[in-house]
Amino acid sequence: MDFKKLISHCKEYGFIFQSSEIYDGLAAVYDYGPLGTELKNNIKQYWWKSMTQMHQNIVGIDAAIFMHPKTWKASGHVDAFNDPLIDNKDSKKRYRADQLIEAYAEKIEAKIKKDVDKAAKRFGDSFDEQQFRTTNQRIIDRQVKIDYAINTMNDFLAKEDMVGLKNLIEELEIACPESGSRNWTDVRQFNLMFSTQLGNIAGEESKLYLRPETAQGIFVNFLNVQKSSRQKIPFGIAQIGKAFRNEIVARQFIFRMREFEQMEMQFFVRPGEELKYYDYWKSTRMDWHKSLGTPSDHLRFHDHENLAHYANAAVDIEYQYPFGFRELEGIHSRTDFDLSKHEELSKKKLQYFDPELNENYVPYVVETSIGADRMFLAQISEALQEETVPDAKGNDSTRVVMKFNPAIAPVKAAVLPLLKNHEGLVNAATDLFDTMKTRFQCQYDEKDAIGRRYRRQDAIGTPYSITVDHQTLEDNTVTIRERDSLNQERIHKEEVPDMVGAATNINKLL
Ligand code: GAP
Repeated sequence: MDFKKLISHCKEYGFIFQSSEIYDGLAAVYDYGPLGTELKNNIKQYWWKSMTQMHQNIVGIDAAIFMHPKTWKASGHVDAFNDPLIDNKDSKKRYRADQLIEAYAEKIEAKIKKDVDKAAKRFGDSFDEQQFRTTNQRIIDRQVKIDYAINTMNDFLAKEDMVGLKNLIEELEIACPESGSRNWTDVRQFNLMFSTQLGNIAGEESKLYLRPETAQGIFVNFLNVQKSSRQKIPFGIAQIGKAFRNEIVARQFIFRMREFEQMEMQFFVRPGEELKYYDYWKSTRMDWHKSLGTPSDHLRFHDHENLAHYANAAVDIEYQYPFGFRELEGIHSRTDFDLSKHEELSKKKLQYFDPELNENYVPYVVETSIGADRMFLAQISEALQEETVPDAKGNDSTRVVMKFNPAIAPVKAAVLPLLKNHEGLVNAATDLFDTMKTRFQCQYDEKDAIGRRYRRQDAIGTPYSITVDHQTLEDNTVTIRERDSLNQERIHKEEVPDMVGAATNINKLL
């Protein structure tokens, strides 16, 4: 589905609104509407249960957003959590230098794709894309340009060479998308943390940061949790919570936000065993995504080219968003970097006594870190479809439908009396609604013709619509319509709650 249509669908049906819209919005900040909140809660619940309920050795916490300022010194965020920024002197617009270079590469890639699509049309079934890409001289030349731009950029980023980045932008003749000019400032580093002041004390000492990741709340509580929950290594701590980053270029809807939510899990292991658990979490997390029905070809691993100095392995799970493959989740083997740094700055021991080895050590950590909002966007992108279906008279008609996995659908069932002015039908429908509302989210809807009500439920992804009609009053049966197949079946009304409950239960995914 076209990305603009997806965004307007999210607004029209109450999934996502721009923050402070009446004041023309606040860039890269979004509010979740009634259905968006339900969907996001279901995603978070599925993650939480998969991590904590399904693993005896993973427990959850909910740490505060504010932390002691030294936390961020220890974690490296004060000194190194920067983006390389560049301003265009004519438009006065600010950009991330790396994103300007990536956009340059994407433009060339779009040209390649155009050529590939044209050739595919021309050659039909006999077309071999791989062969075409490796033998067509124009495509080869373009690929060389892309590789040069990206590889050189990665080198400069790794060396934190800001002069090199500026020179590369000039060499590639990249112009400001707004003014079209190449009148650039130097590239400089810009810290992404938001800060505020504690109480009435002025100065650096009282500078507080809004956490840019939830992970540090887990690291500083490592021993508290281990001792209070009597966990033995290997064990994990999971957390869901808000994180804040002063993203400079905020694009692509809820993909890159300034206030967002992370679902993170830090898994503490014996030094030397981290890569075994890294592999375990890599495949476990990929399976988790697929268990929701996301097709394999919409997901892929992407190994980090430049490992952070504290990591000895790192991979992203990327999802094919409407704007291309992008990072959805990160799995990082972070060695003992964070705990050791916290030991150093706090001067408190953060070590574990391993009874089997009879020794103390600082555990190594494998983390899985996923943005709840990016997961939400992936699920919306996957679910939202426009398709042709037969209408009541058997003619073709288009419907907009959200094919969520029923376990995460915001509304599980809709109860629809055939007529709204018929007391018997309304009472029977209300009774059925009342027997279900304590078990899962349902909607009661009596407005408009039944066909339009079905379409409304399709558009918000409700897996089951239950119609109460005149026959219900005679034999207590109702029609239950399934969203994807459009199958309609008559069943006894007393069977409905158990049937819908079983088919939409989140535990089915576990
Ligand atoms: N503790 C590790 C960490 O924070 P990260 O790769 O910076 O790693 C982890 O972030 C995940 O958080 C990303 O994979 C992404 O899903 C999400 N995320 C990061 N920045 C985001 C942003 N500005 N808006 C929405 N989600 C974001």
